[in-house]
Amino acid sequence: MSPDRRTFLRLSALAGSAVAAEALAPSALGATLANYRGLPDAGTARRSLDLLILGGTGFTGPHQLRYAVARGHRVTVFNRGRTEADLPDGVEQLIGDRNQHEMGALEGRSWDAVIDNPTTLPFWVRDVGEVLHDTTDQYVFISTLSVYDVARLEHLDEESALLEYTEGDPLDVTPEIYQEEGGRLYGPMKAASEREAHRWFGDRTTIIRPGLIVGPGDPTDRFTYWPLRISRGGEILAPGRGNASIQIIDARDLAEWTIRMVENQTTGTFNATGPRSTLTMAGQLHGIRGALPGDLELSFTWVPADFLQEHSVRPWSHMPTWFGEDEVISRASIERAVAAGLTFRPLAATTTDLLAWFRSLPAERQAELGAGLAPAREREVLAAWAERTEAGT
Ligand SMILES: NC(=O)c1ccc[n+]([C@@H]2O[C@H](COP(=O)([O-])OP(=O)(O)OC[C@H]3O[C@@H](n4cnc5c(N)ncnc54)[C@H](OP(=O)(O)O)[C@@H]3O)[C@@H](O)[C@H]2O)c1
Repeated sequence: MSPDRRTFLRLSALAGSAVAAEALAPSALGATLANYRGLPDAGTARRSLDLLILGGTGFTGPHQLRYAVARGHRVTVFNRGRTEADLPDGVEQLIGDRNQHEMGALEGRSWDAVIDNPTTLPFWVRDVGEVLHDTTDQYVFISTLSVYDVARLEHLDEESALLEYTEGDPLDVTPEIYQEEGGRLYGPMKAASEREAHRWFGDRTTIIRPGLIVGPGDPTDRFTYWPLRISRGGEILAPGRGNASIQIIDARDLAEWTIRMVENQTTGTFNATGPRSTLTMAGQLHGIRGALPGDLELSFTWVPADFLQEHSVRPWSHMPTWFGEDEVISRASIERAVAAGLTFRPLAATTTDLLAWFRSLPAERQAELGAGLAPAREREVLAAWAERTEAGT
């Protein structure tokens, strides 16, 4: 495989979640999740469980809590108590700082299952293992698709247009590579944490590896940029030719499935992203448009990757969910997760609920988007592209 292709593949696998971890600043997460369509029909679990959710008050945790409580489980959360929490009635909150090894509140307690949301560092897993390895039936570690060392996929040949990685593919366990490339440790640290989880909990371990998580409560605004931008209408800058493949998962689909995995005592390792079938960049943008009012006037102007690069429009940060190329279709296989009951809301539901949630946030938060292109920059690039295409005709 050529070095360029390796680099691209590595970046595309990283982008799905490495940036996410860095961007999840607790201060950004406090907004209420009340103002969007709630749990359609959670149903009741066959057996009521005692669940410990480590974290619980950031992005995905609140969705787990709401679903677990609705399903009839008794839930305890454990965190530092710093992030503003809107805990459902009956949820117990225990306090401790995992960076300081403060696990005392968990000692002498037992739970049917532990879901560990915020952990990237192996010692956080070890600390939980030391206290709870004998007193829980299942430990769920929320990992990431960034654990894969996609450059080492042997089944991917140079000619192949499709990179599909599965749970058995090699993990990235070489932090040095990331130091050379700017110090990225997220994937290797998550991979090391997975190993630590197995060390303490053995075959009671469930590893869930999400891709980009989107929807109500997302503090990073990555996917959010597109519903917001499209809802403003007008001429919209869109990246590439539209045929890049996209994988995202609604935080509620991930959270609710995580709770069902615990109810079913399903262990093992699972990629967790979506949608069920291939989604292209064009499919994503038109799908979002389809969820918005019919009289909205807009057009998409698809601008090639090299022109965007010339104008310093960066994949991912300026053009969220896009990796910068059209040709390579990079996918995590989700067959195992689907077989284990992962389901997917329609893109339209994610879009409308996300917009309802975002518009309920304080005005100053709404004014400060964490991703995407500022309107003035977008106009500039569109004008430059119009000039280029006119000159070329
Ligand atoms: N976002 C994505 O696109 C994406 C993609 C792939 C994988 N992931 C992974 O998905 C997980 C998402 O986590 P989440 O933020 O949604 O989880 P969460 O459970 O909703 O929130 C994070 C929690 O961690 C607590 N916390 C932070 N530092 C702590 C500390 N030192 N000690 C104890 N508690 C602490 C926070 O509360 P306090 O501040 O009160 O302590 C908060 O409750 C992460 O593992 C991430 O790597 C994310």
